[in-house]
Amino acid sequence: MGSDENYQLNAKFYDVLDRTYFRKPATSPRNAVISILGDEPLKVLDMCTGTGVNAFAIAGARRNAKVIGIDISAAMLQKAAAKLEQAGLSNVKLLHMDAANLQFLSEEFDVVVMSLVLHEISPELAGKLLAEAGRVLKNAGKLIVVEWEEPVSLVKRIPFYLVKKTEPAGFEDFLKTEMDQYFFRFGFEMTHTIHCDYSKVMVLSKNEHI
Ligand SMILES: C[S@@+](CC[C@H](N)C(=O)[O-])C[C@H]1O[C@@H](n2cnc3c(N)ncnc32)[C@H](O)[C@@H]1O
Repeated sequence: MGSDENYQLNAKFYDVLDRTYFRKPATSPRNAVISILGDEPLKVLDMCTGTGVNAFAIAGARRNAKVIGIDISAAMLQKAAAKLEQAGLSNVKLLHMDAANLQFLSEEFDVVVMSLVLHEISPELAGKLLAEAGRVLKNAGKLIVVEWEEPVSLVKRIPFYLVKKTEPAGFEDFLKTEMDQYFFRFGFEMTHTIHCDYSKVMVLSKNEHI
């Protein structure tokens, strides 16, 4: 996984990931993301939405939310657009955009979601994305980050091995990263973490002291 060329190839098959690793509703990170959000009107940005899995899950479950999904890969967005047509959700918009240079006003969003992105991009790009997330997020807003997590169970370690083999170099180091410190450097404070199948969902707020 990784570059836009890769996503041109992977867009067709990307959703197999969810059917393989995140198929159990009770322990799926997609449902954990929804559980963090209330029913009030929220403006949500799904940064690097890919095929729109989080964007559509949120829009379907939280009908008062207005969700914008952005991605740099035209192939991933095409797949997302086809799914959106089938789902018939009127509270989602998909836009072709670089997450490092968001075309939104500062403090425009109540919630920013960044799911399965940070582990596969360079530290420089990760810094730019987190800076942009902080800029467009309201001061009292929430940043929700979904990332892979090495499973403890031996049975789950076998399928996880496949993830390790397909992710870019540096993935194993990223898995060991102390996440509180990582996000603190970019101006975010960890509120809580939900451990899910093969993954964790981290809820962060803007650090008022920075
Ligand atoms: C592994 S996919 C994650 C998709 C989705 N968020 C999910 O949870 O399944 C990573 C996505 O990040 C997108 N991406 C990478 N760099 C980006 C950038 N600078 N701006 C916008 N999207 C980017 C890729 O095109 C890809 O669709």
